[in-house]
Amino acid sequence: MNLIFLGAPGAGKGTQAEVVSDTLGIPQISTGNMLREAVKNGTEYGLKAKEAMDAGALVSDEIVIGILKDRIAQDDCQKGFILDGFPRTVPQAEALDAMGVKIDKVVEIFVPDDTIKKRVSGRRVCQGCGASYHVEYKPTKVEGVCDKCGDKTVVRKDDQPEVVLDRLATYHEKTAPLRDYYEKQGKLVTVEGQEEVADTSKLTLSAVGAV
Ligand code: AP5
Repeated sequence: MNLIFLGAPGAGKGTQAEVVSDTLGIPQISTGNMLREAVKNGTEYGLKAKEAMDAGALVSDEIVIGILKDRIAQDDCQKGFILDGFPRTVPQAEALDAMGVKIDKVVEIFVPDDTIKKRVSGRRVCQGCGASYHVEYKPTKVEGVCDKCGDKTVVRKDDQPEVVLDRLATYHEKTAPLRDYYEKQGKLVTVEGQEEVADTSKLTLSAVGAV
Protein backbone atom coordinates (compact mmCIF):
# COMPACT_ATOMS: atom_id res chain seq x y z
CA MET A 1 0.00 0.00 0.00
CA ASN A 2 1.32 3.48 -0.90
CA LEU A 3 0.14 6.25 1.42
CA ILE A 4 0.60 9.99 1.71
CA PHE A 5 0.33 11.78 5.07
CA LEU A 6 -0.69 15.40 4.73
CA GLY A 7 -1.12 18.06 7.40
CA ALA A 8 0.04 21.39 8.74
CA PRO A 9 3.45 21.53 10.46
CA GLY A 10 3.09 19.93 13.88
CA ALA A 11 -0.33 18.40 13.16
CA GLY A 12 1.07 14.99 14.07
CA LYS A 13 1.50 13.43 10.63
CA GLY A 14 4.97 12.12 11.52
CA THR A 15 3.65 10.61 14.76
CA GLN A 16 0.79 8.87 12.95
CA ALA A 17 2.92 7.83 9.96
CA GLU A 18 5.22 6.02 12.43
CA VAL A 19 2.29 4.12 13.98
CA VAL A 20 1.03 3.02 10.57
CA SER A 21 4.56 2.12 9.46
CA ASP A 22 5.00 -0.14 12.52
CA THR A 23 1.55 -1.70 12.00
CA LEU A 24 1.79 -2.35 8.26
CA GLY A 25 5.54 -3.01 8.13
CA ILE A 26 6.18 -0.49 5.37
CA PRO A 27 8.76 2.34 5.58
CA GLN A 28 7.94 5.87 6.68
CA ILE A 29 9.65 8.30 4.34
CA SER A 30 9.98 11.74 5.90
CA THR A 31 11.44 14.31 3.51
CA GLY A 32 11.93 16.62 6.53
CA ASN A 33 14.11 14.00 8.29
CA MET A 34 16.02 13.29 5.07
CA LEU A 35 16.69 16.99 4.56
CA ARG A 36 17.76 17.48 8.21
CA GLU A 37 20.18 14.55 7.80
CA ALA A 38 21.58 16.16 4.63
CA VAL A 39 22.02 19.47 6.49
CA LYS A 40 23.79 17.69 9.37
CA ASN A 41 26.13 15.89 6.98
CA GLY A 42 26.81 19.08 4.99
CA THR A 43 25.96 17.45 1.65
CA GLU A 44 25.35 19.51 -1.48
CA TYR A 45 21.56 19.11 -1.03
CA GLY A 46 21.87 19.99 2.65
CA LEU A 47 23.75 23.23 2.02
CA LYS A 48 21.08 24.32 -0.46
CA ALA A 49 18.19 23.29 1.82
CA LYS A 50 19.39 24.79 5.11
CA GLU A 51 18.49 28.42 4.49
CA ALA A 52 14.92 27.64 3.41
CA MET A 53 14.35 25.23 6.30
CA ASP A 54 15.65 27.65 8.95
CA ALA A 55 13.28 30.32 7.60
CA GLY A 56 10.24 28.04 7.59
CA ALA A 57 10.05 28.10 3.78
CA LEU A 58 9.94 25.14 1.41
CA VAL A 59 13.04 23.62 -0.16
CA SER A 60 12.93 23.76 -3.98
CA ASP A 61 10.73 21.21 -5.74
CA GLU A 62 13.71 20.12 -7.84
CA ILE A 63 15.80 19.07 -4.82
CA VAL A 64 12.98 17.34 -2.94
CA ILE A 65 11.66 15.48 -5.98
CA GLY A 66 15.21 14.22 -6.69
CA ILE A 67 15.67 12.97 -3.10
CA LEU A 68 12.27 11.29 -3.07
CA LYS A 69 12.72 9.58 -6.42
CA ASP A 70 15.99 7.97 -5.27
CA ARG A 71 14.45 6.90 -1.95
CA ILE A 72 11.34 5.14 -3.31
CA ALA A 73 13.48 3.23 -5.81
CA GLN A 74 15.12 1.36 -2.88
CA ASP A 75 14.29 -2.28 -2.15
CA ASP A 76 12.41 -1.69 1.12
CA CYS A 77 9.78 0.37 -0.75
CA GLN A 78 8.75 -2.40 -3.11
CA LYS A 79 5.84 -3.55 -0.92
CA GLY A 80 4.64 -0.03 -0.20
CA PHE A 81 5.61 3.12 1.68
CA ILE A 82 4.29 6.09 3.60
CA LEU A 83 5.21 9.54 2.35
CA ASP A 84 5.41 11.85 5.37
CA GLY A 85 5.69 15.48 4.25
CA PHE A 86 5.77 14.85 0.49
CA PRO A 87 4.23 16.11 -1.74
CA ARG A 88 3.98 19.63 -0.35
CA THR A 89 3.20 21.53 -3.55
CA VAL A 90 1.03 20.79 -6.57
CA PRO A 91 4.15 20.44 -8.83
CA GLN A 92 5.49 17.78 -6.40
CA ALA A 93 2.18 15.88 -6.61
CA GLU A 94 2.26 16.12 -10.40
CA ALA A 95 5.84 14.83 -10.41
CA LEU A 96 4.75 11.82 -8.36
CA ASP A 97 1.95 11.11 -10.84
CA ALA A 98 4.41 11.53 -13.73
CA MET A 99 6.72 8.92 -12.12
CA GLY A 100 3.80 6.48 -12.38
CA VAL A 101 3.59 6.04 -8.60
CA LYS A 102 0.14 4.72 -7.64
CA ILE A 103 -1.13 6.28 -4.41
CA ASP A 104 -3.85 4.35 -2.57
CA LYS A 105 -4.82 6.90 0.06
CA VAL A 106 -3.98 10.40 1.22
CA VAL A 107 -4.49 10.84 4.96
CA GLU A 108 -4.89 14.42 6.14
CA ILE A 109 -4.28 14.89 9.87
CA PHE A 110 -6.32 17.99 10.69
CA VAL A 111 -5.49 20.23 13.66
CA PRO A 112 -6.40 23.94 13.92
CA ASP A 113 -3.52 26.45 13.87
CA ASP A 114 -4.00 27.57 17.50
CA THR A 115 -3.54 24.02 18.80
CA ILE A 116 -0.48 23.59 16.60
CA LYS A 117 1.20 26.71 17.97
CA LYS A 118 0.88 25.34 21.51
CA ARG A 119 1.89 21.83 20.52
CA VAL A 120 5.14 22.47 18.66
CA SER A 121 6.60 24.46 21.56
CA GLY A 122 6.81 21.16 23.49
CA ARG A 123 8.37 19.09 20.73
CA ARG A 124 11.86 17.67 21.25
CA VAL A 125 13.79 15.75 18.60
CA CYS A 126 16.81 13.49 18.86
CA GLN A 127 19.87 15.16 17.39
CA GLY A 128 21.22 11.71 16.49
CA CYS A 129 18.42 9.64 14.92
CA GLY A 130 15.69 12.30 14.49
CA ALA A 131 13.09 10.53 16.69
CA SER A 132 10.37 12.94 17.80
CA TYR A 133 8.96 13.43 21.33
CA HIS A 134 6.83 15.88 23.28
CA VAL A 135 7.64 17.07 26.80
CA GLU A 136 4.02 16.57 27.87
CA TYR A 137 2.33 14.18 25.42
CA LYS A 138 5.17 11.85 24.43
CA PRO A 139 8.04 12.26 26.92
CA THR A 140 11.32 10.37 26.77
CA LYS A 141 11.89 7.85 29.59
CA VAL A 142 14.91 9.87 30.78
CA GLU A 143 14.57 13.63 30.33
CA GLY A 144 16.63 14.92 27.39
CA VAL A 145 17.78 11.46 26.28
CA CYS A 146 16.43 9.64 23.20
CA ASP A 147 14.70 6.32 24.02
CA LYS A 148 15.86 4.84 20.71
CA CYS A 149 19.56 5.72 20.43
CA GLY A 150 20.54 7.46 23.70
CA ASP A 151 21.61 10.71 22.02
CA LYS A 152 20.49 14.14 23.26
CA THR A 153 17.02 15.54 22.46
CA VAL A 154 16.83 19.19 21.40
CA VAL A 155 14.35 21.86 20.21
CA ARG A 156 14.19 22.00 16.41
CA LYS A 157 15.44 25.32 15.01
CA ASP A 158 12.26 25.79 13.01
CA ASP A 159 10.07 25.28 16.10
CA GLN A 160 10.82 28.82 17.33
CA PRO A 161 7.38 30.58 17.59
CA GLU A 162 8.03 33.13 14.81
CA VAL A 163 9.27 30.44 12.40
CA VAL A 164 6.20 28.29 13.19
CA LEU A 165 3.98 31.18 12.02
CA ASP A 166 5.89 31.30 8.72
CA ARG A 167 5.62 27.51 8.31
CA LEU A 168 1.86 27.67 8.87
CA ALA A 169 1.51 30.47 6.30
CA THR A 170 3.56 28.44 3.80
CA TYR A 171 1.37 25.41 4.47
CA HIS A 172 -1.88 27.28 3.81
CA GLU A 173 -0.53 28.87 0.64
CA LYS A 174 1.43 26.02 -0.97
CA THR A 175 0.36 22.70 0.57
CA ALA A 176 -3.34 23.03 1.45
CA PRO A 177 -4.30 23.09 -2.29
CA LEU A 178 -3.26 19.41 -2.33
CA ARG A 179 -6.48 18.62 -0.41
CA ASP A 180 -8.47 19.52 -3.55
CA TYR A 181 -5.96 17.79 -5.80
CA TYR A 182 -6.44 14.45 -4.03
CA GLU A 183 -10.13 14.94 -3.25
CA LYS A 184 -10.73 15.11 -7.01
CA GLN A 185 -8.88 11.79 -7.33
CA GLY A 186 -11.15 10.31 -4.61
CA LYS A 187 -8.17 9.53 -2.36
CA LEU A 188 -8.43 12.06 0.47
CA VAL A 189 -9.48 10.98 3.95
CA THR A 190 -9.39 13.46 6.85
CA VAL A 191 -8.61 12.41 10.42
CA GLU A 192 -9.26 14.79 13.33
CA GLY A 193 -5.91 15.08 15.10
CA GLN A 194 -6.81 17.13 18.17
CA GLU A 195 -7.37 14.30 20.60
CA GLU A 196 -4.71 12.35 22.45
CA VAL A 197 -2.11 10.55 20.32
CA ALA A 198 -3.61 7.09 21.00
CA ASP A 199 -7.13 8.23 20.01
CA THR A 200 -5.86 9.80 16.80
CA SER A 201 -3.93 6.60 16.06
CA LYS A 202 -7.14 4.54 16.27
CA LEU A 203 -8.82 6.88 13.77
CA THR A 204 -5.77 6.83 11.49
CA LEU A 205 -5.40 3.04 11.49
CA SER A 206 -9.09 2.73 10.70
CA ALA A 207 -8.78 5.32 7.88
CA VAL A 208 -6.08 3.24 6.15
CA GLY A 209 -7.96 -0.03 6.73
CA ALA A 210 -5.33 -1.42 9.10
CA VAL A 211 -7.84 -2.37 11.83
P1 AP5 B 1 9.04 18.41 8.23
O1 AP5 B 1 10.00 17.78 9.14
O2 AP5 B 1 8.20 17.55 7.36
O3 AP5 B 1 8.14 19.35 9.12
P2 AP5 B 1 6.60 19.70 9.08
O4 AP5 B 1 5.76 19.38 7.95
O5 AP5 B 1 6.65 21.13 9.40
O6 AP5 B 1 6.06 18.71 10.05
P3 AP5 B 1 6.47 18.48 11.48
O7 AP5 B 1 7.56 17.47 11.58
O8 AP5 B 1 6.73 19.82 12.17
O9 AP5 B 1 5.12 17.99 12.10
P4 AP5 B 1 4.30 16.64 12.05
O10 AP5 B 1 2.97 16.92 11.45
O11 AP5 B 1 5.09 15.49 11.53
O12 AP5 B 1 4.05 16.51 13.61
P5 AP5 B 1 4.69 15.53 14.69
O13 AP5 B 1 4.15 14.17 14.51
O14 AP5 B 1 6.18 15.72 14.77
O15 AP5 B 1 9.75 19.48 7.29
C1 AP5 B 1 10.68 20.43 7.81
C2 AP5 B 1 11.11 21.37 6.70
O16 AP5 B 1 11.76 20.60 5.64
C3 AP5 B 1 9.98 22.12 5.98
O17 AP5 B 1 9.60 23.31 6.68
C4 AP5 B 1 10.65 22.41 4.63
O18 AP5 B 1 11.54 23.48 4.71
C5 AP5 B 1 11.44 21.14 4.36
N1 AP5 B 1 10.67 20.13 3.59
C6 AP5 B 1 10.27 18.89 4.02
N2 AP5 B 1 9.58 18.24 3.06
C7 AP5 B 1 9.54 19.10 2.01
C8 AP5 B 1 8.94 19.03 0.71
N3 AP5 B 1 8.25 17.95 0.32
N4 AP5 B 1 9.06 20.11 -0.12
C9 AP5 B 1 9.76 21.21 0.26
N5 AP5 B 1 10.34 21.34 1.47
C10 AP5 B 1 10.24 20.30 2.33
O19 AP5 B 1 4.00 16.18 15.99
C11 AP5 B 1 4.35 17.47 16.45
C12 AP5 B 1 4.50 17.44 17.98
O20 AP5 B 1 3.22 17.21 18.57
C13 AP5 B 1 5.40 16.30 18.48
O21 AP5 B 1 6.09 16.76 19.60
C14 AP5 B 1 4.40 15.19 18.86
O22 AP5 B 1 4.90 14.34 19.88
C15 AP5 B 1 3.20 16.00 19.32
N6 AP5 B 1 1.92 15.35 19.02
C16 AP5 B 1 1.60 14.64 17.91
N7 AP5 B 1 0.32 14.22 17.96
C17 AP5 B 1 -0.20 14.72 19.11
C18 AP5 B 1 -1.47 14.67 19.74
N8 AP5 B 1 -2.50 14.00 19.18
N9 AP5 B 1 -1.64 15.31 20.92
C19 AP5 B 1 -0.61 15.98 21.50
N10 AP5 B 1 0.63 16.06 20.96
C20 AP5 B 1 0.84 15.44 19.79
